[in-house]
Amino acid sequence: RSVNNFLMTGPKAYLIYSSSVAAGAQSGIEECKFQFAWDRWNCPERALQLSSHGGLRSANRETAFVHAISSAGVMYTLTRNCSLGDFDNCGCDDSRNGQLGGQGWLWGGCSDNVGFGEAISKQFVDALETGQDARAAMNLHNNEAGRKAVKGTMKRTCKCHGVSGSCTTQTCWLQLPEFREVGTYLKERYHKALKVDLLQGVGNSAASRGAIAETFSSISKKELVHLEDSPDYCLENKTLGLLGTEGRECLKRGKALSKWEKRSCRRLCGDCGLAVEERRAEMVSSCNCKFHWCCAVRCEQCRKRVTKYFCVRKENQLPGHRLPSVTA
Ligand SMILES: *[C@@H]1O[C@H](CO)[C@@H](O)[C@H](O)[C@H]1NC(C)=O
Ligand SMILES: *[C@@H]1O[C@H](CO)[C@@H](O)[C@H](O)[C@H]1NC(C)=O
Repeated sequence: RSVNNFLMTGPKAYLIYSSSVAAGAQSGIEECKFQFAWDRWNCPERALQLSSHGGLRSANRETAFVHAISSAGVMYTLTRNCSLGDFDNCGCDDSRNGQLGGQGWLWGGCSDNVGFGEAISKQFVDALETGQDARAAMNLHNNEAGRKAVKGTMKRTCKCHGVSGSCTTQTCWLQLPEFREVGTYLKERYHKALKVDLLQGVGNSAASRGAIAETFSSISKKELVHLEDSPDYCLENKTLGLLGTEGRECLKRGKALSKWEKRSCRRLCGDCGLAVEERRAEMVSSCNCKFHWCCAVRCEQCRKRVTKYFCVRKENQLPGHRLPSVTA
């Protein structure tokens, strides 16, 4: 145990896990960009400052998501690394194997070792919060919500046993889902994030630290929590590092668009007082490729018309100002 403790906390821990932690944080960022591609706030680089000391200390719903998805990404990657045998000190979680799991099934096989991923990611990600104020408490809570999301979206996979495949007994194990599923789950949580009123009149005294701890301990660890309202993401705000939605692309027609995507022009342009501009372009690409024996592929050049939509300022509209939206 002491050896393990040393490995996790000593200088070597950094060497063993740092590439996985970095890869995990990166996958969190990519997932954030995917989930928010058609939102007014689209996970800009500026927002991805993780520690609460220094830099921009925003504490809104989007900050909550960034923390949750990053810590989920780190835990997910460490867990997957472990299952792939990338670390000497970790393997499958078989701690429950042989025990009854539910009606007609026993634990067995190789469960992904989320306990390992959770412990290591906690040490790396939570260590970035050195403060004791409400913002630090919020970040820690959302880091935890991210880890809970990974655990909560794991899937039970089973194998049948019995005479010629009759499934009289099964053994089951838990597997990580695709990371996309964790992202989608956290996006739903983001929409339901809870606002906690802790910024006013709370100093750094022991009493206020107690009040902060009490408030957060009464909220389920699955929930995302924020302290501030979000700024107006329609408008450019240089102080906050926000670009506004002018110039953004949006989606209108298309077969496989979700409801959310179909409304993106209204959300990004119309509701922000901007107009939608249609731009046509011609794309040339290879098509009708044929294989010639042997061994060449010859293709034709096909031209395809594509129509794209962008948010643009209306005539007479000053930059960074909203015209009242006109409803027809
Ligand atoms: C863990 O997995 C990530 C992503 O698949 C990879 O980049 C990283 O190098 C792996 N870490 C180790 C120690 O193998
Ligand atoms: C930028 O945001 C800050 C904080 O919300 C606000 O006080 C300020 O007025 C905004 N600036 C502009 C140009 O909208």
